[in-house]
Amino acid sequence: MAAKNHFSLLLLLLLQLFYSGSILKNCKTGRAELQMNYYAKSCPKAEEIIKQQVTELYYEHGNTAVSWLRNLFHDCVVQSCDASLLLETTVGVESEKDSDRSFGMRNFKYVNKIKSAVENACPQTVSCADIVALSARDGIVMLKGPHIDLKTGRRDSKMSYSNLVEELVPKHNESLVNVLSRFKSIGIDTEATVALLGAHSVGRVHCVNLVERLYPTVDRTIDPNYAQYLKVRCPTPNPDPEAVLYSRNDRETPMILDNMYYRNVLEHKGLLIVDQELVSNPLTLPYVKKFAADIKYFHDQFSRGIRLLSENNPLTANQGEIRKDCRYVN
Ligand code: HEM
Ligand SMILES: *[C@@H]1O[C@H](CO)[C@@H](O)[C@H](O)[C@H]1NC(C)=O
Repeated sequence: MAAKNHFSLLLLLLLQLFYSGSILKNCKTGRAELQMNYYAKSCPKAEEIIKQQVTELYYEHGNTAVSWLRNLFHDCVVQSCDASLLLETTVGVESEKDSDRSFGMRNFKYVNKIKSAVENACPQTVSCADIVALSARDGIVMLKGPHIDLKTGRRDSKMSYSNLVEELVPKHNESLVNVLSRFKSIGIDTEATVALLGAHSVGRVHCVNLVERLYPTVDRTIDPNYAQYLKVRCPTPNPDPEAVLYSRNDRETPMILDNMYYRNVLEHKGLLIVDQELVSNPLTLPYVKKFAADIKYFHDQFSRGIRLLSENNPLTANQGEIRKDCRYVN
């Protein structure tokens, strides 16, 4: 009898720990405060306007869609999804987007076009942070990825976190193990992380970020024929960073968010170290195989990953502000 009582007490204690743990987590990340269709009353056309702008921009410059996806990652992984990425360099403070880690990022000027369209309909109502999230969502659709329902209600930071960029944005040669633990620390599990790396199914990598794997000796994990091709794309060990020498992430379907990325890494045709390590790490390999075999499953996990990433530690309620111009604090 006594033993049984002890047992139920323990169970109660465990349950309590479990619940207080998850409540704490919700408060800390602020996930509980974002909501679906946050602008339903204040700016009912907001999501539609953003989608229309993203679509128009895609037909003018297809790679804008790719940029919106990378923007979400670089914004959300530093502190929170708060559009701190979009701030311009001011006296004494280098912007996040001008830091080395943002090398190759482009199309920032078109964010202003999206923001202006939204401001015309609803002045100072819709945050730049939500524009980052929703433009990524709509860009993913243009790249033939899944449609992802996203919550809104993020607010904009009043400062840039350029001092944290080096620490928080993974470098081009970061190891997968470090990336997995970094993502875990913001609540993104291994499977979702592997799915998010599927973003490297689109876009490009510049030679400055590749030559380390090609010169003086070729990284043994790269398929030899593929290495030959990469050496044609990147013919010298010291490419001029200003020269636009690059290789596409996926040679076959470079502008489609499909599962070719996983088939490529299985064939040892990954461009970055993190990409290639997905198949040498026993924790990630099973997911790579699943995604390579089943695009629907990949898209489901990718959607889950984007939701987790886009809800990292948002500013809500009276935190931060709604910027008038995404480049400057009010
Ligand atoms: C976690 C480890 C990651 C590392 C180390 C990494 C690193 C890189 C590097 C070095 C480039 C090439 C930059 C250039 O040379 O122009 C790149 C491109 C890109 N990354 Fe990542 N990335 C990571 C994760 C992600 C995630 C999670 C996303 C989105 C969900 C993402 C989206 C992109 C996109 C879309 C491009 C192509 C950009 C373009 O062509 O304009 N990356 N990444
Ligand atoms: C990563 O690249 C940097 C240069 O960008 C280099 O200094 C560093 O040694 C590299 N790290 C590894 C582990 O290769």
